[in-house]
This record gives sequence, C-alpha cells and structure tokens, in this order.
Amino acid sequence: MKGEHKATLSFSDGTPSIEMPIYKGTVGPDVIDIRKIYGQTGKFTFDPGFMSTAACESKITYIDGDKGELVYRGYPIEVLAQNCDFLETCYLLLYGELPTAAERGQFGAEINNHSMVHEQMHRFFTGFRRDAHPMAILVAVIGALAAFYHDTLDITDPESRRKSAIRVIAKIPTLMAMAYKYSVGEPFRYPRFELSFAANIMQMMFGTPCEDYVRNDVLVRALDRILILHADHEQNASTSTVRLAGSSGANPFACISAGISTLWGPAHGGANEACLVMLNKLLADGGVSKIGDFIKQVKDKDSGVKLMGFGHRVYKNYDPRAKLMRESCHEVLTELGLHDDPLFAIAMKLEQIALEDDYFVSRKLYPNVDYYSGIVQKAMGIPVSMFTCMFAVARTVGWISQWNEMISEPDQKIGRPRQLYTGYPTREFIPMNKR
Ligand code: SDX
Repeated sequence: MKGEHKATLSFSDGTPSIEMPIYKGTVGPDVIDIRKIYGQTGKFTFDPGFMSTAACESKITYIDGDKGELVYRGYPIEVLAQNCDFLETCYLLLYGELPTAAERGQFGAEINNHSMVHEQMHRFFTGFRRDAHPMAILVAVIGALAAFYHDTLDITDPESRRKSAIRVIAKIPTLMAMAYKYSVGEPFRYPRFELSFAANIMQMMFGTPCEDYVRNDVLVRALDRILILHADHEQNASTSTVRLAGSSGANPFACISAGISTLWGPAHGGANEACLVMLNKLLADGGVSKIGDFIKQVKDKDSGVKLMGFGHRVYKNYDPRAKLMRESCHEVLTELGLHDDPLFAIAMKLEQIALEDDYFVSRKLYPNVDYYSGIVQKAMGIPVSMFTCMFAVARTVGWISQWNEMISEPDQKIGRPRQLYTGYPTREFIPMNKR
C-alpha cells in the first residue's frame, strides 16, 4: 500500500505545512494518509457522512460508481450471478478464492451442520407480539446467538472467527424463516440438508407439516440471485457499523446484530420495503396517470418525498445489480403468469420517466438494487415486511468477511472519530434556586 507521491497541506493561519503520503490501490481512487495531521497541526479533518473518506484498506469488494461496476474478490457481479450459486459466492467472499468442487461440497456440508439453532432459542419468539416487525426480532435473536455459542467467541483465534462466520451464515436464514412463521402463526420448520441454501429458505418459509413442499426452481434460482447480488458492497453504512462495533472487540454475533439494525433504515436496506410501499401508493392513487404528479412531489424538496430505490452514494451510473434484478423480476413474473403485474408495469414506467427527467439525470440518480428487489420478492410470496430481513440474510456473509478482515489486521485499532465542537464553552454552574 505504498506510493511514490506525496500531498502537501499548507495553511494561511501560520500553521507549518505538512506532507502526507499518497497510496495507490489495485484500482480506484488514490488515498492520502492523513493519520499524522492532528499530531503535526492540532487540526482534525472534517467529513460528516464520509463523502471523501476511506475508512480502511480492503481486498474484498470494489465498486466503480462511474462505470456502474461491482466486483467481489476480482470477479464482476454479472459473472458470479450467471455462473455461481450463493454458497459458492459466500466461499469466495469469506476465503478470497472460488472453491474447487470438493471445497464447495465441504463448505455446503459445514453450513448444513450449523443451520439448526439451539431448541431453547425457539422460546425467544413467544415474547414478541405476532405483529412485531421481523427486523426487530432478527436484531434480537442474532445478538442472542452469543448466549449459546460461547466456544467460538475468542476473536483472537482465527479458527474461532471462521467457525463463528459459518455459524452466523448458516443460522440467519433459519432464524429469519422462524420470524416469518411466528408472524403468521405457523409452526417453525427445520432446514433440510438435501436442499440448496435458497431452496431451504423457501421451504422453511412456505412449507407446512401438512404436505411436502413443492418448490419452483425458477423462484429458487431468482432468490439465489437476489442473495448473490446483496452479499457485499464495500464500506456501506451497515458494513461500517459492523467494522466499528468489531473494532471494540465485541463478539461477532453482536457486531452482525448491529449491522442488521443499521440496514433497517429506509435510506439503506429498508429501501426495498419503502419502494414497494411507494409503488403500491402510486397504484392506489391512480397508477401510471399519476406518475407526473408524483415526480413533481419528489422534485419539491419541501415535500420530503424521495423516489425510493433511486440514487446511491457511490453509483453515479446504473447500479449493475438493478439490471440483473430487473432480469430476475421479468423471469419470475413470466413464470408466474404475472407479466402484466401492475406494480412491475408502474415501476418500469416510473423508471423510464425518471431516466428522461433532467432532475434525476443531472443528479445522476439511477435505479439501485432496491428498486426491483421488492417486486420480485412480492411476486414470490415474500411479504413486504420480510424484504429487509432477506437483505440481511444475504449481507451477513459480507459483514462477517469484512469483520474478519478487520480483526485480522496486525495494527487494528478501535475506531474513535473526533468532532468539530460548536457547543457552549465551559461556563459557571447556576444552582436551581437561582435559575
Ligand atoms: C442501499 O451504500 C451502499 O452501498 C448501500 C447499498 C448496499 O448494497 O449496501 O447499495 C444498499 O442502501 C441502496 C440505496 C437504497 N436507498 C434508497 O433507495 C433510498 C432513496 N435514495 C436516497 O435516500 C439517496 O439516494 C441515498 C441515501 C441512497 C444516497 O444519498 P447521498 O449519496 O447522500 O446523496 P444525497 O442525499 O446527497 O443526494 C444528492 C442529490 C440531492 O439533491 P440536491 O440537494 O443536490 O438538490 O440527489 C437528491 C438529493 O435530494 N436525491 C434524491 C434521491 N436520492 C438523492 N432525490 C429524490 N429521490 C431520491 N431517491
């Protein structure tokens, strides 16, 4: 990570100028190492929202926002979505290389062996209201894994870290499906070893004890692709949360629970749920004929209305995942005979209008991964309230891979940003009887 060039920072307030090394990555923007600024100048840098800040070095995922490219460990997302399944992608993200057939088989068997949860965990669910948001349940039960699996909480031991990674990847789909079953009052189901990761999710969510679950392989393939597309995404808000939580030495299950909490926000992983609410409202308000009025509302800053599923901090071109998601959407709707699904029709029309409107074009606002993922999931029978849970199931491998990369760093430090303080200077205390 060394570079031959330097940046010089000079000041008009008499502070002596300083030089800082510039590092080059494999691809992407260079970085300026500012770690010595405070020590040498007594000044902090200021970057709320981290618009210009690289918080870490990573070898896992790279995004080219201008070209609309996403790469996991050097492989473009399109190649992985066409040629791999989710567990093969998990192996790649976790270990850095695509598995051989033997490695893939062993990995799948290890995930299977850890896919059940301790029977006592079933009791957690009865404490929740049936109408509790499943993300509230998922945050709780993933954090609670630390109460059961103490033998892999030594984060200084690489094998413990690896085992915890396997455990959380394997158990989150089971717990997610339990949250869904609890919400509909049906009995929990167990994972089946003969099924793929995505097929297991479908049978744990939609199977019942009354008959064998008949799966639709087009839907299973679509779900597998949704998981691949959501698996990792550089230092997004929830991944940054997982890294920051992990930097304090917190156990991996607590860190993943923190990541799930962050993902819940509508500006982040909650956008797919918010996008479907937006499309349903548009439909109820009159459908395609009302899109013009809606776009006007979005452009009016005072309305506070955003075009959910559009825009991205990094992508200033089309999110490559949105293109692949739209393909899956079309496949699933065709398979289910829903190609004239009014939601899909209105989403396509809204996208077409937005992409021709200068307000969106000038701000480089394009559909992101969340724009179509809700429509696919709804068509597959997944309720809106479960969309972000599914995102969390997919992103868990990215979170735990990034967490492991951070913990493995030899000079890993606790993350502790500073601030620009604009509050009161120190002042005299006034006793209450004198206020
Ligand atoms: C995900 O970071 C990741 O990688 C996240 C993610 C991942 O895989 O982890 O990709 C997953 O979270 C995707 C994003 C899902 N969120 C949404 O779809 C919610 C709607 N999108 C916006 O909230 C917004 O676009 C963000 C939060 C995604 C990005 O916000 P930024 O980068 O802070 O951009 P900004 O808010 O500064 O917007 C720049 C301009 C502003 O207008 P001006 O002040 O310049 O006039 O664009 C406008 C914004 O008002 N704008 C939008 C808009 N998004 C930005 N206007 C209308 N609708 C939108 N969706």
